[in-house]
Amino acid sequence: MRLQNKIAVVTGGARGIGKGVSELFAKEGATVIIWDLLEDGEQTASNINSKGHQAEFTKISVTDKPAIEKEAERIHQKYGKIDILINNAGITKDRTLHKMSEAEWDAVVDVNLKGVFLCTQVVSKYMKDAGYGRIVSAASNVGLRGNFGQTNYAATKAGVIAMSKTWTMELGKYGITANALAPGFTLTEMTEQIPKEHLDGIKKQIPLQKAATPLDIAYGYLYLASDEASYVSGICLTIDGGISR
Ligand SMILES: NC(=O)c1ccc[n+]([C@@H]2O[C@H](COP(=O)([O-])OP(=O)(O)OC[C@H]3O[C@@H](n4cnc5c(N)ncnc54)[C@H](O)[C@@H]3O)[C@@H](O)[C@H]2O)c1
Repeated sequence: MRLQNKIAVVTGGARGIGKGVSELFAKEGATVIIWDLLEDGEQTASNINSKGHQAEFTKISVTDKPAIEKEAERIHQKYGKIDILINNAGITKDRTLHKMSEAEWDAVVDVNLKGVFLCTQVVSKYMKDAGYGRIVSAASNVGLRGNFGQTNYAATKAGVIAMSKTWTMELGKYGITANALAPGFTLTEMTEQIPKEHLDGIKKQIPLQKAATPLDIAYGYLYLASDEASYVSGICLTIDGGISR
């Protein structure tokens, strides 16, 4: 097993890609702590435990610094370390430039950018003390290419890539790697509201002609979180069916 005895926090792990990551990490031997706002996280964790793997759920927002500090300290007290942080939680509030409100801008920046900053700032202190850490944060192919109607979202995903490169420089000497992962179009609750005709149009633009599953993306997180990637830091791994080549 590739994550034997590792303690992994997965934000936004209740559903979608984060759920896929939590299930795969637990199967690979990690104890997974799901941080999410949705109560579904309880069910996700209990399904993992019912298979004989280890997971727990904490209801928390990645934007709430005092709560993150308290929760990270609880995990450290209980398990003695936090090896892996997967900054996966993210939201969209799409609108074209002239129609986008400040509230829509702020909401997306708050979760997708500030949330990643806060979780990493808090958790990496424990990694620094331990001399080991793996941080992988959710970017998007949209952060590399832009996207119609996603000024706020694209900005945050480009920001995640830049933050990861910065942390590579600041945290590398403590044995911590920091990478971004840019999924392409993935079938989850986030994308299920897209109308079918638009969906077909998106698929035609993808060289592999199909959407990703959460598991397709989770395998990339697994690699970057594993010891096999111990000399990989500051990259953005794209898993997008070849769209951002
Ligand atoms: N689905 C895609 O096509 C796609 C493509 C590229 C990037 N991504 C990115 O991958 C990540 C996961 O996407 P998904 O499609 O699984 O989304 P999703 O909406 O299905 O799941 C996101 C999870 O994050 C949680 N979350 C949202 N705000 C939170 C907060 N403040 N605190 C804690 N948890 C919070 C949600 O409750 C949810 O469980 C996101 O960062 C997204 O931007 C997704």
